[in-house]
Amino acid sequence: MTTQDLPSAFRHASPAPVTMACDRLLVFGGPYSNLAATRAMLAQAKRLGFGPDEILCTGDVIAYCGEPAETLDLIADSGIQVIMGNCEEALSANQDNCGCGFDAGTQCEVLSVQWFNFASGQVNQDQRHWMADLPRQVFVEIGGRKMLATHAGTSSINEFIFASSSAETKLAQMVAADVDGMITGHSGIAFAQVLSSRLWLNAGAIGIPANDGTARVWYAIVEEKQGRIDVQIRSLTYDPSPSIKAMDERGLASGYRDSLSTGLWPSMDVLPQTETRQVGVALDEVQLKWSLRKS
Ligand SMILES: [Fe+2]
Repeated sequence: MTTQDLPSAFRHASPAPVTMACDRLLVFGGPYSNLAATRAMLAQAKRLGFGPDEILCTGDVIAYCGEPAETLDLIADSGIQVIMGNCEEALSANQDNCGCGFDAGTQCEVLSVQWFNFASGQVNQDQRHWMADLPRQVFVEIGGRKMLATHAGTSSINEFIFASSSAETKLAQMVAADVDGMITGHSGIAFAQVLSSRLWLNAGAIGIPANDGTARVWYAIVEEKQGRIDVQIRSLTYDPSPSIKAMDERGLASGYRDSLSTGLWPSMDVLPQTETRQVGVALDEVQLKWSLRKS
């Protein structure tokens, strides 16, 4: 596939897409300036035996929490593959908001002003250059399958695609990109769906819990096993108290600080009705077997 084959939103993307070829992949999204969670995630990946070339982060390294520069340095030094999120796009371009696409006046928009201004004041020019150089797409070849990893979807870097979002839209994006599956993040709640034999995987986020009333955060493993692909969505339990302390000390005593312990989001402006009904309901881990696509 060339960039000419990609949907229009990506045709002029720079730098060029990257390809990862591996037998298994650990994916996580949304470190969100949460240094303690990022440390815990990387330690867990090491415990599970994943090397840096088998780990993918779907972006938004910097967002709501109190240690943006430290979290970015940890991720950059880890050597893992990172995709540009809307937060990296906005910060690297010196924009004045996070680019999440929140509607004006919503709670999400009000909260984003606080953390974005703080984060923008913390990152240096080298870190902005690192963010600017991140690819917007990574192709993942695993078990004979070709997957496209992006921050949110193929239409834009900040579209919110949830489990309840249109299956037709997800399938259309995968067909248009000519891939067997998608790997995404951005919306903050992990899920995996097989749609007409194609996989849509959102690996969730490690920086803020999944609005399920627990302080757990989420990641995914995609692994070739005996001619099929096993997909797991796993929870990660860590101690958020250092990140809560950092937010208090740095003037970010917002609803996001409370989320780290309550597991509930401070605002549900972006949530569809289905996900709103599931707020506070503890999520289960997921194991899904993805069989070969029928041609
Ligand atoms: Fe995002």
